[in-house]
Amino acid sequence: MLNENLDLYLNEGYYPFHMPGSKRSKILRSDLPYRRDLTEIYGFDNLNDPEDIFIQMEERLAQIYRVNKAIISTNGSTSGILSTIRALCRDNKNILIQRSSHKSVYNACELNSLNVSYINIVTDEQLAIKDIDHEDLEEKLKEKNYQALVLTSPSYEGYLLNLKRIYKLCRENNTKLILDMAHGSHLPLTSLYDNSFDVAITSFHKNLSALTPSAAVLINDMEYFDEIKRNMAIFQTSSPSYVILQSIDEMIEKFKSFGPLYTNLENNLDDLYKLRLDYLKIIDDPEKDRSIILISTKNSNISGSDLDKLLREDKIEIEMSYPNYVLLISTIFDIKDGFNRLKNSLRRIDGLLEDKNKSYSLELPIPQKKLEIYEAIDYKKKLVKLEDSLGKIAREFVYAYPPGSPILAPGELIDEKILSTFTYMLENNIHLNIKDEYIAVLIDK
Ligand SMILES: Cc1ncc(COP(=O)(O)O)c(C=O)c1O
Repeated sequence: MLNENLDLYLNEGYYPFHMPGSKRSKILRSDLPYRRDLTEIYGFDNLNDPEDIFIQMEERLAQIYRVNKAIISTNGSTSGILSTIRALCRDNKNILIQRSSHKSVYNACELNSLNVSYINIVTDEQLAIKDIDHEDLEEKLKEKNYQALVLTSPSYEGYLLNLKRIYKLCRENNTKLILDMAHGSHLPLTSLYDNSFDVAITSFHKNLSALTPSAAVLINDMEYFDEIKRNMAIFQTSSPSYVILQSIDEMIEKFKSFGPLYTNLENNLDDLYKLRLDYLKIIDDPEKDRSIILISTKNSNISGSDLDKLLREDKIEIEMSYPNYVLLISTIFDIKDGFNRLKNSLRRIDGLLEDKNKSYSLELPIPQKKLEIYEAIDYKKKLVKLEDSLGKIAREFVYAYPPGSPILAPGELIDEKILSTFTYMLENNIHLNIKDEYIAVLIDK
C-alpha cells in the first residue's frame, strides 16, 4: 500500500518544493531514511483525517487484532492511552486503574481531573508483577460506579490477565475495560491473544517490527470511536512520521509471514527453557508469555543487576534488571545464534555461582490518598530530605525505572511503609527519580 505507492512516486521524478526540509539531499547521511521521509503531499492521505491508504491500513490492523476499528498512532501507546481515557471519561470522572499502570495512564488522570482509585497487584516469588487482586477488583466495582477500568496485560514481565473473567465483571458493573496491551502487539501470532476489552492500546515497536514509537488503538466499543479519533488528532503530532507509517505498512504486508517466524521463535524458546542450570532459574508459567524471558537470581548469591553485568561481559544486552531477576525481550526477529550465545553465557555464569536462598519482602503499599493528583499539582512545592518527609503529602510522582510505574503519586501521604519501600529500592539499585534523597512535598497554594 503506502510503500508501493511511494516507490512509484519516487520513480516519477517530482521535485520537492514542500516539507520536510531535508529534500532527500545527498549531503545527509545515507543510512538515515531522508529519501522516504515525506508529508501529506497529493495522493498520500492524512493520518489525522484519513480517507484512503490509512483507512485501508487501519482496516487490515482491525482484522489482525479481531476488533471493529483500529486507529494508528505514530506517537506510541502513550498518545493512544491519553486519547482513550479522555474520550471515555468525560461525564463520569471515576476511574479505576491498576496501581502498576504506566505513567501515561497517571498523566491522563491528571489531565482530565479524574477521581482515581487503585487495584492492588499481586507479585510472583521474584516480585515480578503477575496479576491483579481479583477480590479487590470485585469489591471496588461494587462500591462505586466507575466509568472505566484500566489494566495492563501482558505486564512488562510477560504475565497475562484473565481478560474473559474481568471483562464479564466489567459489563455486569457497567464499567468500560481499557486494556494497556503495549507489550502484547505480537499476541495475535500466538494462542494467548484475547480480544475481551472495550478498547486496547498496543505498541508495534515493542514486540513486532514497526519503528519506534508506532502503535495503535484497537476499538470494540464503537460508541467511543469518533471521540477517540478526535482525541488522537489532539494528542498526536500534526505531522505524523511517514517513515514510521511505512514501517507499519510493511509490518501489515508481511504479517502472514510472521506465523512461521513465530514457530521458529517457539522452537528457540523451547530449547532455552530446557537449559539445565543449578542456581539461575528461567521462569515458566502457563499464564506467562514465554518470549519475555524472566531469569531469576533468587536462589543464587548474585542479584539481577549482577547478572546484568555478567551478561554484558559476554556482550549480551538485556531489557532490565531488578533485585531478583533480569528481563530479556525476544521476538520473531531473533536468530538462533543469539539464543546460543545466551545459553552459553547463562551456563558460564551459572558455573560461577553459589547457592543462597534470599528471602526478599518488597511491599508495594498504596499510600493513603489525601488529594486527587490534579488537585495536588495545584499546590506549591518544596524539596525535603526523605528522612524529613514523614507525614507530608507528595507533590510529585516517584517512579521506579524501568518500567516507570509510580510508587508514590501527588496527593498521597508519605508514611513509614512507603519510606521503607524507597530505602529498599535504593539499597537494591532500583532507579528512582529521587535526586540526592530529596522529595517534593506540597505546601500552601
Ligand atoms: C505498560 C506500558 N504502557 C504504555 C507504554 C507507552 O508505550 P509507548 O512507548 O509506545 O508510548 C509503555 C512503555 O514502556 C508501557 O510499558
